[in-house]
Amino acid sequence: VKNYSNLASLKNKKILITAGGTREYLDPVRYISNRSSGKMGYAFAEVAQTAGAEVTLISATKQLAAPNGVKVIYVETVTEMMTAVHNNFDKADILIMAAAVSDYQPVQFENHKIKKATQSDKLILELQETPDILKSLKNLHTNQFVVGFAAETEDLLNNAKGKLRAKGADMIVANDVSRHDIGFDVDENAVTILQPNEPNIQISKENKKVIAKKVLEVIAKRFA
Ligand code: CTP
Ligand code: CA
Repeated sequence: VKNYSNLASLKNKKILITAGGTREYLDPVRYISNRSSGKMGYAFAEVAQTAGAEVTLISATKQLAAPNGVKVIYVETVTEMMTAVHNNFDKADILIMAAAVSDYQPVQFENHKIKKATQSDKLILELQETPDILKSLKNLHTNQFVVGFAAETEDLLNNAKGKLRAKGADMIVANDVSRHDIGFDVDENAVTILQPNEPNIQISKENKKVIAKKVLEVIAKRFA
């Protein structure tokens, strides 16, 4: 990734980025999560930092090296991620919600490791919907430019369009996660950018750093 001139307007901007798949614990040793690696969010952080932005990365993974010069806040659960986002949203110019946030969490956390039952060979887990971090910010926007993702395995553009509206976002980056060569847990992605009252922008399969740069270029235009 060379030539950052198209990202000049991001210099000194405060960019808040979330990355990775959150974990919802059942007991001290078990959790529910998803296939997200955090690579897309980390790519955004690295490119934005190189462009001269002041980047805070809220990371639900410890598997990736923190990009140089980026402030990283490590979290595990949706609740922790929500708190970290809320603590940093006020002062941010841009929020990029690249994290794959768990949609459900166990109703009950067991303090001790759940034992195999003796009477039954089945275990039924009761789950409760998590708070929606993006939606929770809807009435807190001042001037922040808010970017959400849409991870879909079907009807990508229609579902993403619905999320653009429902989440009150300025941009949705739509991501086909049904394919195994792009999206979750791999180095490449292909996305479509949706914005209110703008034609969609398609970015074909590229390394996630190139995708991040191209998305940031679209965001940078709004600050130029
Ligand atoms: N998101 C969030 N809080 C949640 C769930 C999702 O902030 N509890 C954010 C994600 O980080 C992403 C966007 O909302 O930027 C869309 O996430 P996605 O999983 O695609 O959509 P959902 O609204 O969760 O709907 P569904 O999973 O049912 O398609
Ligand atoms: Ca979801």
